[in-house]
Amino acid sequence: MWDQTATAQLENVPWVRHVEFHPTIGSTNNRARELIGQAVELPALVVAAQQTQGRGRLGRNWWSPPGALLCSLVVGSDVGPAATENASVLALWTGVALAEGLARIEPTLPAWLKWPNDLMVADSKLAGILVETAMSTDSGPVWIVGFGLNVNNRRLSQVPDLASRDLYQPLSLYDFTGRTYPLVEVLHTVLHSLASTYAALRGDPQSLPERWQTYCGLHGKVVQIATAEQKSVQGVCLGIDGDGALKLQTASGEVTRCIVGSVIEWEAKTKPT
Ligand code: BTN
Repeated sequence: MWDQTATAQLENVPWVRHVEFHPTIGSTNNRARELIGQAVELPALVVAAQQTQGRGRLGRNWWSPPGALLCSLVVGSDVGPAATENASVLALWTGVALAEGLARIEPTLPAWLKWPNDLMVADSKLAGILVETAMSTDSGPVWIVGFGLNVNNRRLSQVPDLASRDLYQPLSLYDFTGRTYPLVEVLHTVLHSLASTYAALRGDPQSLPERWQTYCGLHGKVVQIATAEQKSVQGVCLGIDGDGALKLQTASGEVTRCIVGSVIEWEAKTKPT
């Protein structure tokens, strides 16, 4: 947990040039937005022990109890994708980085990425990512990369009011392995992974589909997508394109691209044991 020793160690986390810790905050993404325009050096990191108004995609709430790793990074255009690309691409980069970081922490954890921004174990959610674009500075766009990773928070009971939160129950590393993890060490590993994955993808953006594919749990499976226009599309998942669109082969054989949406159903959905 975030005791005095752990918060002191935040001074030594890699890559970021500004770190701040909040025992309780509304939303780290909101605080990160406040930092833009202030003279903080980027990448900047906001960490909270708990959030009272944690935000998820599509206006949902994000369950943010103590024990979870709740962070928002502010990154500049020297770190993120080309200015012509969008927040979705950076969310996909971040998913790859989280999956790679977790593989270092728990190599046997069967974590998989669910387009566009979920890190799953079976059909429960281990982590969520919320990337937002902030006002561009002279040197290009600034991005807020929020991520919530369920680490030591326990699924003692079902999360209340799930419908307004997410479609999936959360699952933590603790729930899966029965062990607790020093949050600052998990953060350390995740930041290393973010720095190296971002650098690699920035150097070779075309490698995103292949890197993402390593963790795509739905490749070759029939999935159903709720699109932004409230339409439902069903097809076999063929992975993603370089711009982050999900490719589906529909019953007619045609390949359709989903740019915005959520996977709402998939083949062989299993309950975690
Ligand atoms: C989602 O899966 O819908 C995205 C969830 C993102 C949650 C994180 S927790 C830290 C950061 N602050 C927020 O308010 N949201 C993100």
